[in-house]
Amino acid sequence: MSAPLTAKSHPRLAFIGGGQMASAMVAGLLRAGQDPASILVVEPTPAQRAHLEQTLQVSTAACADARLSAADVVVWAVKPQVLRQAADAARAHLGAALHVSIAAGLSLQTLSDWLHSQRVVRAMPNTAALVGAGVTGMAAAEGVSAADRQLAASVLAATGHCFWVDSDERIDAVTAVSGSGPAYVFHFLEAFQAAAQTLGFDTEAARELVLRTAAGAVAQAQLGEPFGMLRARVTSPQGTTAAALNCLDAQGTPQAMQAAVRAAYERAAALSLELSGQTA
Ligand SMILES: NC(=O)c1ccc[n+]([C@@H]2O[C@H](COP(=O)([O-])OP(=O)(O)OC[C@H]3O[C@@H](n4cnc5c(N)ncnc54)[C@H](OP(=O)(O)O)[C@@H]3O)[C@@H](O)[C@H]2O)c1
Repeated sequence: MSAPLTAKSHPRLAFIGGGQMASAMVAGLLRAGQDPASILVVEPTPAQRAHLEQTLQVSTAACADARLSAADVVVWAVKPQVLRQAADAARAHLGAALHVSIAAGLSLQTLSDWLHSQRVVRAMPNTAALVGAGVTGMAAAEGVSAADRQLAASVLAATGHCFWVDSDERIDAVTAVSGSGPAYVFHFLEAFQAAAQTLGFDTEAARELVLRTAAGAVAQAQLGEPFGMLRARVTSPQGTTAAALNCLDAQGTPQAMQAAVRAAYERAAALSLELSGQTA
């Protein structure tokens, strides 16, 4: 498709990389009323370009071209290992856009160096972005204005809740909690389902029971009471729930949770260092 990027009331957006996350963001933006004619996706795989054009009606390009220079915001949605090469390929067409990167582990300084710009926002979304229920932490380089922050947040909010933090170090912390967090929840659900099966429920029945129990508890927790208070209210002394929770405590579940989140945080910091090494 060779249509120019047009803007009605919405900013003109370009995505570099048209995979899972970019598709989820574009779908969210369209649901929020963004005009598909204002979105260009640069994506090398022909089948993925055809899919994006057919399902989302956006313009696509196999590689960066002159249309990119019209973009108000360029979203970098490629794997961190290819972002530098993609930036080099796009540089001649980048214009004066605000850059928003969702690539894991690439620091603001690294992004600014590779993109030759100080108007850079680094974001850490999570996989729930794919169903519009994501959590995204964002950090801004020094050249990002208040208006830029609003613009970046309006794009990232297409996939769920987003919030600002003030440094790369805090993005590592976000990575350890909400970035990797969905997998902790899946791990818990998996173990809970397996435990239910030991009491005679088949796979599907156990899945249904566990999922409905988790969804109901989350819905109740969202009303705002502290988690500990909610737990205490359903835990009678000597009762069944107390028997289970005593067992979880004896097995060290809270300590395991702390160690897990700490391990993710340290790994995020180490990965950032490794990926920043590519700047040399
Ligand atoms: N998925 C998540 O839950 C999640 C969460 C947090 C952060 N992120 C970050 O989001 C970014 C995208 O992740 P994803 O899951 O959407 O990955 P993905 O599905 O693999 O999408 C990346 C896309 O970029 C394309 N691409 C490769 N080289 C390119 C280039 N030079 N120019 C333009 N496009 C190029 C890839 O095409 P080919 O397949 O042909 O290589 C692929 O379609 C990653 O940096 C990841 O760290 C993802």
